[in-house]
Amino acid sequence: MKNSTILSVKVLFILCATVVMIFSACKKSQSVATSRSETPILPSTPFEYISVEEGGQIMDITELIHDESNTMVSNQSVTLGRVLFYDTKLSINNTISCGSCHKQALGFADNVAASIGFSDRVTPRNSMAIQNAVHNNNMFWDSRAQSPMELSMMPVFNHLEMGMETDQMLESKLAATAYYPELFFQAFGSNVITKDKIALAMTHFVNCLFSKQSKFDEGMKGPFGKIGDPSQVTPTNFTALEIEGKKLFFSEAFKCSQCHAGSNFSAPDFVGGGYGGSGFGNDNDPSNPRGTANIGLDFVYKDNGRGAGKFKIPSLRNIALTGPYMHDGRFKTLNDVLNHYSHGIKNHPSLDEKFKANGVAKPLNMSEGEKMALISFLNTLTDRNLTTNPKFSDPFVAH
Ligand code: HEC
Ligand code: HEC
Repeated sequence: MKNSTILSVKVLFILCATVVMIFSACKKSQSVATSRSETPILPSTPFEYISVEEGGQIMDITELIHDESNTMVSNQSVTLGRVLFYDTKLSINNTISCGSCHKQALGFADNVAASIGFSDRVTPRNSMAIQNAVHNNNMFWDSRAQSPMELSMMPVFNHLEMGMETDQMLESKLAATAYYPELFFQAFGSNVITKDKIALAMTHFVNCLFSKQSKFDEGMKGPFGKIGDPSQVTPTNFTALEIEGKKLFFSEAFKCSQCHAGSNFSAPDFVGGGYGGSGFGNDNDPSNPRGTANIGLDFVYKDNGRGAGKFKIPSLRNIALTGPYMHDGRFKTLNDVLNHYSHGIKNHPSLDEKFKANGVAKPLNMSEGEKMALISFLNTLTDRNLTTNPKFSDPFVAH
């Protein structure tokens, strides 16, 4: 064969390969787009949501819910809540659902610093992980809501997130679907759709996003249930590095557990809990920190959070999955977060006392080994049941 023929055969081959590649890529993206079903795909018998394991005991979820959503909870109402959570019809232009920014595989957080709401509008803050909301007294990065119930309808009517304008608009839109009247009937005994019932069912689902099956939880179990205070007990299934990381996490030198506290690794924001101020009676009192603290991210904050650069002390459960980190998603990795605590803490006037010595900022100066150990401990808080169980998954996608 002549050189030029070989060349044209080669060119033809490359062309064909490119066409095949483009074609298969199109088919793939098409199949992603068309794999969303118009109606939810639900099991004939609802999943079990009501019984949950708490502290090694089987409990009824209603005993744990501490707000007014503690009513009419059933497997059917949670199922309705699951459908609502993942339904793009709750947004003004049918593009966004709660699940767009709170993704199951990512511990119900998002993997971008700012999430995209309807019509490509960008949220000013990083989407938050959702789990164990029943143990959460203060919600959002600035703690402006006190319970999942208070929060539920906020994103639907928030103009950046989902853009719904009136209650009536939402109610009649859902009533016009083939599936909601029946789902509301199953859940609440009537097919009349109201904003309050939407909020109630959605809150029931959010409250059932339980995360108690991480390596850490498994290691804390004994023959008679939970074996005690995590600061005192060494989980039997931990590696040497994880044990070392746990020691550092609970140490007086680092104080991580004094803010990311208790078995939920979240703010001690109960009355007398250090970040709980004067308690529930006084929640609008601005001197009540409501579980927030300033950790010296900036000298001058663009977003002041609860005030003076104080932001919610978030739970660290599933933290390995929920990056980027902080209220504005400024840190990509856990190593970046630890570098902040190690040598990035700024001497802000409202910096938390735990990060000060003699009145000035005192960075923690971690060694590389200490960072590695802390990260390996944080990785034990990942719960694959939460991130893979079909009962928490998107019902509009065939699994
Ligand atoms: C466009 C993205 C987006 C959508 C859609 C969205 N969220 Fe969020 N969510 C966020 C962001 C961002 C935050 C933090 C907001 C803040 O602090 O001001 C948040 C915070 C939360 C929190 C607080 C968690 C905590 O620990 O404090 C819950 C719960 C929550 N959202 C539930 C929902 C529900 C339920 C829906 C659907 C009705 C929803 N979200 C829709 C982005 C979104
Ligand atoms: C004074 C209380 C306090 C202490 C002590 C503390 N933290 Fe935090 N932590 C916070 C607050 C508040 C935030 C959120 C700050 C923000 O977004 O502005 C946070 C955020 C984080 C995050 C990112 C969470 C997310 O969802 O984006 C991680 C990871 C973390 N801390 C780990 C640690 C570790 C490890 C230690 C110990 C070395 C520690 N923290 C000590 C209060 C504290």
